[in-house]
Amino acid sequence: MDLYDIGLGNTDTKTRAGAEQDRIKFWESQARNLFWFNPWHTALEWNPPFARWFVGGKTNASYNALDVTVQKNPNKKAILWEGEDGTQRTLTYQDLLAQVSKLANALKQLGVKKGDRVTVYLPMVPELIVSLLACARIGAIHTVIFSGFSAQSIRDRVVDSKSSVIITADGGRRRGTIIKLKDVVDVAIADLDFVKNVIVLEHTGNNISYTARDKKWNEFVGSMEPFCDAEALDSTHPLYILYTSGTTGKPKGVLHGTGGYLTHVYSTFKWIFDICDSDVYFCTADVGWVTGHSYVVYGPLMHGATQVIYEGGLDYPTPARIWEIISRYRVTILYTTPTALRMFMKSGDALPNSNNLTSLRLLGTVGEPINPQVWKWYFKTIGKEKCPIIDTWWQTETGAAMISPLPGIETIPLKPGSAARPVPGVSISIVDDVGNKVQSDSKGYLVVEDPWPGMLLSLWGDDEKYKTVYWSKYKNMYYAGDFAKMDQDGYIWMLGRADDVLKVAGHRLGTAEIESGFVSHDTIAEAAVCGIPHDVKGESIIAFLVLRDGFVFTPNLKEELVQHIRKTIGPIATPDLLYFVKKLPKTRSGKIMRRLLKAIAKGEKIGDVSTLEDEASVDEVKSALAELEQTLKKP
Ligand code: WTA
Repeated sequence: MDLYDIGLGNTDTKTRAGAEQDRIKFWESQARNLFWFNPWHTALEWNPPFARWFVGGKTNASYNALDVTVQKNPNKKAILWEGEDGTQRTLTYQDLLAQVSKLANALKQLGVKKGDRVTVYLPMVPELIVSLLACARIGAIHTVIFSGFSAQSIRDRVVDSKSSVIITADGGRRRGTIIKLKDVVDVAIADLDFVKNVIVLEHTGNNISYTARDKKWNEFVGSMEPFCDAEALDSTHPLYILYTSGTTGKPKGVLHGTGGYLTHVYSTFKWIFDICDSDVYFCTADVGWVTGHSYVVYGPLMHGATQVIYEGGLDYPTPARIWEIISRYRVTILYTTPTALRMFMKSGDALPNSNNLTSLRLLGTVGEPINPQVWKWYFKTIGKEKCPIIDTWWQTETGAAMISPLPGIETIPLKPGSAARPVPGVSISIVDDVGNKVQSDSKGYLVVEDPWPGMLLSLWGDDEKYKTVYWSKYKNMYYAGDFAKMDQDGYIWMLGRADDVLKVAGHRLGTAEIESGFVSHDTIAEAAVCGIPHDVKGESIIAFLVLRDGFVFTPNLKEELVQHIRKTIGPIATPDLLYFVKKLPKTRSGKIMRRLLKAIAKGEKIGDVSTLEDEASVDEVKSALAELEQTLKKP
């Protein structure tokens, strides 16, 4: 076993000991690091499976992210922004507060009130961060949609959240092209009358048309007063909805609260990144995903940190771009994904070696399992064997990191491929099918045993689904949907998803939503989607399709279906391989046997299918598989 004895020398045993002694009191002491208008009277109300943290307390996310630093150090740099075309902008905490206040006033003028939803569909520009904080300032619930999603996906999310205002831009830059965001929004909301206004940031100068409900950011927001008091909101007030994929066709609106969420984000940001006043932090995640919410927007800003925000492809115009950025801004902390690292590793060591990366002191990773060889490359080639590698496990639902080495408080040996131990105050176990803890080194399901502050409040508008998805497999234990094992030192090793969720280039997608996408095409009767290993993206999407009677396979149809998925879900869900088959292997009750499809697509031997006798008609499965194998052999 490879052990890397590298940390930052911090040895604060009090934090973990405090959490072990009294979890709730511990989280209360953490919550005191935030600003509160009013203290809470009850630290945790736990009506399983609903947790409410710091009940009675009044706070505001935007106040914690901005005013707290502005009062101490208004000229501290908050954002060092770089566009793909090389444009640079610097915003101090004071600048950010003024912009946030203007937008907050603009939203108020459009009639947005506490609890109303505002959809944000923007590229990685400072205004994206401004939008989230402006909503938070007045108690509106932000719901960000990643700019890689299509019109149909936006429409579904806007309908579900009933957002009355959408904030977007004329376009965003990505790998030399302009993504026409406003055009996409126009299609998405063409028939949605409840969307009263669209605020449009003119960012690329892309030619777009305006309608009566559109407001130009520069004119409309620009004319507002740069002062707006932050609302004193209940700790349990919803801060945001973030849609994420699960095992059902429809994405789920994960709903996060304020006080508990901020406490968890604040503490983990400090423990994980050891953030100091002089640091320059760079997280490559888009704010369209949870990593961007917690560790681009709320975490760094609550700590008054300086961070680099980059809009565009990290490998554009060459794979040296990321290393040039690190060198240009003297980045000290990098937080990125295994997919990005695999891509850079492929383009060799010469590019990172020809840039000055000596400012780096800590390297993080998130979102998917990191292969030990990629971990070692990150450690050696990027960190020059001087920076700890911090592998953080968490989910949209958990709000903040749950398992991670914590160089900000402790120095423990690192094991490539393991996210190390649960963070203080979070109780994680690995259990079998009936909920009994499995032995060390045995594979099981990862569960969280007690509520934690960053825990989702519920799923937007669907408490029942919230109960079923996360709390029905086990009694009073949160089911994460991941396989994992714990070794004898208490280190946790993630072993992939236990459900039908895919991680493609770090993006979370559900097989069911892609299948629904296929079936919504006139020619498709049935679809089965699965992920197979991919050396850069982690997983790639393949689909087995059964055509409706009367339709025949043509190469054009294949291309049309790929385009159809890009249109209904978005470019991030582009399938790599489509197989047209006559039938799919199914259980007796009619469930598609994805396990077999996946095995066969990976070229594995299926072995004896007679063991499936209880599940399916063996002959049927055998003939479907034989046909599949034939199909796969065809060029
Ligand atoms: C996976 C991303 C292995 C896991 C923050 C989880 C990981 C899902 C890791 C959540 C990691 C996340 N090692 N797997 N360090 N981090 N995952 O909601 O399957 O986009 O359940 O949140 O990503 O994805 P989500």
